[in-house]
Amino acid sequence: MSALDDLLTCLRFASVSTDSKHRGDVRACAEWLMGKLTGMGLTAQLHETPGHPIIVAKNKHIAGRRTVLLYGHYDVQPVEPVNEWRSPPFEPTIRDGRIYCRGATDNKGQLIAHVSGLAETLAEHGDLPVNLTILFEGEEEIGSPNLKPFLEAHREELACDVVAISDTGMVGEGIGTFTYGLRGIACMEVKVHGPTIDLHSGIFGGAIANPVTMAARLVATLHDDEGRVQIPCFYDDVNDLQDWERTSWAALGDGDAETLSLTGSPALFGEPGYTERERRWARPTAEVNGIGGGYQGEGSKTVIAREAFFKLSFRLVPSQDPERILDLAEAYLKAKAPAAVRLEIKRGHTGMAYLTDPHSELGQAAQRALLSTFGGDVALIREGGSIPIVQAFKDVLNADTLLLGLALPDCQAHAPNENFPIANLEAGIRLNKALLRELAA
Ligand code: BES
Ligand code: MN
Repeated sequence: MSALDDLLTCLRFASVSTDSKHRGDVRACAEWLMGKLTGMGLTAQLHETPGHPIIVAKNKHIAGRRTVLLYGHYDVQPVEPVNEWRSPPFEPTIRDGRIYCRGATDNKGQLIAHVSGLAETLAEHGDLPVNLTILFEGEEEIGSPNLKPFLEAHREELACDVVAISDTGMVGEGIGTFTYGLRGIACMEVKVHGPTIDLHSGIFGGAIANPVTMAARLVATLHDDEGRVQIPCFYDDVNDLQDWERTSWAALGDGDAETLSLTGSPALFGEPGYTERERRWARPTAEVNGIGGGYQGEGSKTVIAREAFFKLSFRLVPSQDPERILDLAEAYLKAKAPAAVRLEIKRGHTGMAYLTDPHSELGQAAQRALLSTFGGDVALIREGGSIPIVQAFKDVLNADTLLLGLALPDCQAHAPNENFPIANLEAGIRLNKALLRELAA
């Protein structure tokens, strides 16, 4: 089977981790990967968790070689809104050299680049130049709830010198990109309760607080007019950008124009004093990811709903503590809520931001692998997205992580028509082979 066939097979599993009706599909994907890894001669184990399975696979570890842990996730985001897909979300379809399917870029294309790079190296040399440990999980898109406890329980088995992950982006086509930082995350859901029953808005309107109005007002208190987060102490622990970062990011070209064209937004908006890239990669945010309540059907219905909700996520930078941010947000929202409503706050998953030194010995090895694969200059960037387990690799295994992403800015991760260029699969295979060579001590 070619790498492309493998990727197409892997993509057909609807491994949506958040949706219990896809539980069997998530498992089937894990089992297929198990077959793939054992077929390559690796020793692989499927570990059950209270959620989705974790895969650990190894070659024979030999004393004196560097131990590399490769991490990836085989779960994917939900596909909604389904009718905005040009081809069915779980039928991989090739158009103009790109594979369209949920999970194509995040993270199955990149995962199969790892697997195929290993398979080719094994086929060519009979072994790998390093001790390899593969760790593939099925819960990244829901915050990796079972992986951190798993790391703690399997410290010895997962001990390594370095972690490599391909679950981030490239700044542009053919530009080798080394990501040395990720934002952290903290999520929360808020229910706004008003009356105990839905009410006629003519009979009671004017005398009762409308929970939907109150939800909207609370969401609107999160930012000032220019986009700064207004929660007291929110910025207290934020580490400032370094001068070399500002200079080298500015040299990457006109980020404003690119983001305007990628997003289709009429204008940019955000914290004054920072460029568009700085805002996305190195500044914290508060986002509302969903808001609702009241009548959603056709036409009008004169009702005051008894409750409304909104869902928030905060993106964090070093050294903000996600639990402290949730404490601050909770206190702020409760103080802002009028007595006429009651808030019910549910805290969600959290993950620390990550930042490492791109110029470390291992960082340089990764950059050499990127250079030999893509040529040109290697871009050194941070990303706005989060991979919560990365800081846990540092805390639990004391290992730094090398982030060598293959997603292009227009691969539409998490959105309809997610895609991955076949050229990036091929480059990714070469990159993984080069990385093994460079990391061989
Ligand atoms: N691959 C992404 C993270 C990412 C995106 C890194 C873009 C760099 C650039 C990952 O699969 C993801 O989406 N993670 C979630 C984590 C969350 C659900 C805990 C995220 O960032 O929203
Ligand atoms: Mn991902």
